[in-house]
Amino acid sequence: MTLMKTELKVVIIGAGRVGFHLAKRLFEVGIPVSQIFSRQQIKANKLANLIQAEPISDLSKVSKDADLCILAVSDDAITEVAKKLSKILKKDSFLVHTSGATSSAVFEEHFKRYGILYPLQSFSIEKKPDFSNIPICIDSQNPLDLAFLTEIANEIGPKVYYIDDSQRQFLHVSAVFVNNFVNHLYFLGKEILDEEEISMELLKPLIIETANKIIDNDPKAMQTGPAIRGDTTTINAHLELIKNKAEIHKLYQYITKSIQKHHS
Ligand SMILES: NC(=O)c1ccc[n+]([C@@H]2O[C@H](COP(=O)([O-])OP(=O)(O)OC[C@H]3O[C@@H](n4cnc5c(N)ncnc54)[C@H](OP(=O)(O)O)[C@@H]3O)[C@@H](O)[C@H]2O)c1
Repeated sequence: MTLMKTELKVVIIGAGRVGFHLAKRLFEVGIPVSQIFSRQQIKANKLANLIQAEPISDLSKVSKDADLCILAVSDDAITEVAKKLSKILKKDSFLVHTSGATSSAVFEEHFKRYGILYPLQSFSIEKKPDFSNIPICIDSQNPLDLAFLTEIANEIGPKVYYIDDSQRQFLHVSAVFVNNFVNHLYFLGKEILDEEEISMELLKPLIIETANKIIDNDPKAMQTGPAIRGDTTTINAHLELIKNKAEIHKLYQYITKSIQKHHS
């Protein structure tokens, strides 16, 4: 199958972070987004204006002849939106969602053709994502739909992966560890510095170096610090410094034990 991309009709439901950047990327690579849905008309208008799409805030206006309908709504809303769309679209419409944590089974009851288009990156409205570097994880039960989705994904970016429902859910848990939890640790680290009026700037080269090192190395081999060295005096001195911060104190002990367990 060769994609006649300029003739496609893609509908995006959701004008949040992922809807916003996917819509802009599709437009940029020449795949027309025919409609953008947001419950807030102003939000739909704003995004639609940027990409020459029709803004809609009423689901019943979703085009019935769309080639692909991308649900970029909050995880908790996917089931509800799919159900609502089943009363509007044909059963053989092709729908995908963009969630790492949600099974594609949410579509099964309502649609014959469905899949996943999960861009594995942390998106913010303010920062333009670099799609040349973002894994696009796709899946669909139907080989023809998967082939179609592959062509769309290849237009979005060069890093396309076939990841099934089960793998994707584990991928998502792992992403929570390496992104959300690590970011929370940055936050707690900054809190410690803020109280002492020390700038976080001093830690940024260390943060970058730590992330860069695991690009070509196993994280286990890159572990450093007092826990792996067994420097009890330093560990106790740290615990003393943070003794009045119960939560941070507990986390310090817990992570120290985890490091020591995996390196004993
Ligand atoms: N952000 C990320 O880094 C990221 C990365 C990969 C995948 N994802 C996945 O992509 C999906 C969207 O995430 P996001 O970060 O773009 O979320 P977001 O910025 O919070 O936007 C969520 C969108 O969902 C819409 N929505 C919420 N409840 C709805 C409902 N009941 N009916 C209709 N629309 C509803 C909101 O609509 P209104 O505009 O009407 O309020 C909003 O446009 C999620 O499944 C998420 O897991 C997110």
